[in-house]
Amino acid sequence: LTRERYSVRRLPFSVVSEDDLAALERIVPGRVITDPEELEAPNVDWLRTVRGSSKVLLRPRTSQEVAHILRYCHERNLAVSPQGGNTGMVGGSTPVFDEIIVSTALMNQIVSFHNVSGVLVCQAGCVLEELSRYVEERGFVVPLDLGAKGSCHIGGNVATNAGGLRFLRYGSLRGTVLGLEVVLADGTILNCLTSLRKDNTGYDLKQLFIGSEGTLGVITAVSILCPPKPSAVNVAFLGCPGFAEVLQTFCTCRGMLGEILSAFEFMDAECMKLVGLHLHLACPVQESPFYVLIETSGSGAGHDAEKLSGFLEQVLGSGLVTDGTLATDQRRIKMLWALRERITEALSRDGYVYKYDLSLPLDRLYDLVSDLRARLGLHAKHVVGYGHLGDGNLHLNVTAEAFSPSLLGTLEPYVYEWTARQRGSVSAEHGLGFKKKDVLGYSKPPEALQLMQQLKALLDPKGILNPYKTLPTRT
Ligand code: FAD
Ligand code: MLT
Ligand code: ZN
Repeated sequence: LTRERYSVRRLPFSVVSEDDLAALERIVPGRVITDPEELEAPNVDWLRTVRGSSKVLLRPRTSQEVAHILRYCHERNLAVSPQGGNTGMVGGSTPVFDEIIVSTALMNQIVSFHNVSGVLVCQAGCVLEELSRYVEERGFVVPLDLGAKGSCHIGGNVATNAGGLRFLRYGSLRGTVLGLEVVLADGTILNCLTSLRKDNTGYDLKQLFIGSEGTLGVITAVSILCPPKPSAVNVAFLGCPGFAEVLQTFCTCRGMLGEILSAFEFMDAECMKLVGLHLHLACPVQESPFYVLIETSGSGAGHDAEKLSGFLEQVLGSGLVTDGTLATDQRRIKMLWALRERITEALSRDGYVYKYDLSLPLDRLYDLVSDLRARLGLHAKHVVGYGHLGDGNLHLNVTAEAFSPSLLGTLEPYVYEWTARQRGSVSAEHGLGFKKKDVLGYSKPPEALQLMQQLKALLDPKGILNPYKTLPTRT
C-alpha cells in the first residue's frame, strides 16, 4: 500500500537475520516481538493511511537497553523506527519497510517530581494523560494537552514538538522542556536531563531533538516544567455568524480576558455536523456557521466569572456572537471540550482523510477552506476547517469515500502553494514524518534544508534512524 502510493524505494540496510534476533533477545530478554498478529497494529498509523512490514518490535525498559539496541543496529546497519503511542498524523511512527520498531511502551516510569518548582522528570514512554493525573494530584498541570492524551507518550510529544490545546497559554515544548536524555544512532547516551530554568552553557542541544521525529536520536527521558494548576477554569462555547466575527471575537477576547485566557479554538459547521453524525455529540448552542471554544484559567473564580460575563455581554450585544453557553463544572467543561477534541475521530469515521495542518495569517486563515470547498464540489465528502485559532493554526481536512489519486492531485500542490504564498507553514504542529517530508521546501529555504541534511549526516551517518522520514527524498 505505502510503497505503491508513495513510490519509495528501500535503502540498502541489512535484513534482520536469526542471529540478529538471538542477539536482540540477549539485550531485551522476552521483549523481542515477532508474532505477526502482535505486529499488525504497530505497522499501521492512527489514520490508517500508511502500512509498514516490520517483522520485529523491541520493548526496552531502560536507556541502557535502548543504547545497546542502537549500538547493535548501527554496527549491523539495521534500520530502526522509534514508536511511542503511534498517534502521529504524518506517518512518522510506523516503519516504511522492515525497519525494527523500538517501542517506548515499557519506559513508563516517573523519575522525580519537585513540588516547589513543578519540574517533572520521567521516562519517554509515560502516557500524557497519566502524567497529567499524577501532577494534577500534586497541584500542577502538564503544559501540554491534546486529544490523543490517552495514548500518546511524552517522548512522542517531544519528538514531534506537539502543540495542542494549551499552547496559547504555556507556549511551545521548546520552552517548557528543560532537559532531555537521548540515545544517539551509535548507541551513545547523551545525558542533558537537567532541570534548570536558565543554562546558557554553549549550544542548547536538546532543541535539536525536539521536533526531530526520531531521525536524530531516540529520546529516553524528559524533564519538563509544569505550571501550577489553575483553581478557576471556565469554558464558553459560542456560535458566530461568520469568520470575520470569529476574528473580532478573538480580538475582543484578548482585550477583555487578557491574562486569564487559556485557549481559543474554532470549528466550522461541517465539523459540528460530523461530530453529531459519527459520535452522537449534540450541539449545545443554536446552529451557526462557526463555533468558538474559549477557556479561561485563573486563580480567582469570582474575578474570572465577572470578566467573562462582561465579555459575553459585549460579544452578544454587538452581534459578534449569536448564541453561547458557559460551563464551570468539570463534567460540562469536559463535554464542551469533547466537541472540539473529538473532531479528528469523527473525521476518520467519515472516510479517507486528507489532512493539512497549516500556519496562516489570521485574516486569511479560513479563505483556503472556502476556496477548496468550491473547487472540490462533489469530489469530496466534506471539506472542514477547525483548529487552534489563537495560535494561527488551521486544520484543513478533506474526506472522501476512499483514497483517490485524482483528488490528491487537486489538493496538492495547490494547498502547499497557497500556503507558501502567504508565507505560512505547511506543518504547524504535526511535523513532516513520512507523508509530508517532500513539502518542507514550501516553508524553508534550500540553505536550511541543506543544513538539516548535514546535521542528519553528522548525527546519524548511516541513516539508520527513522529513514524515509522528515527530510526530502534525495534525488
Ligand atoms: P508516535 O506517533 O508514536 O511518533 C511520532 C513521531 O515521533 C514518529 O516520527 C516517531 O518515530 C517519533 N518518536 C516517538 N517516540 C520517540 C522517542 N522516544 N524518541 C524519538 N522519536 C520518537 N498533535 C499536535 O501537535 N497537536 C494536537 O492537538 C494533536 N492532537 C491530536 C489528536 C488526536 C486524536 C491524534 C490521534 C493526534 C493528535 N496529534 C496532535 C498528533 C501528535 O503528533 C501526536 O498525538 C503525539 O504528539 C505523538 O505522540 P506519540 O507518542 O503517539 O508518537
Ligand atoms: C487537533 O487539533 O485536533 C489535532 O491536531 C488533530 C487534528 O489535526 O485532527
Ligand atoms: Zn491541532
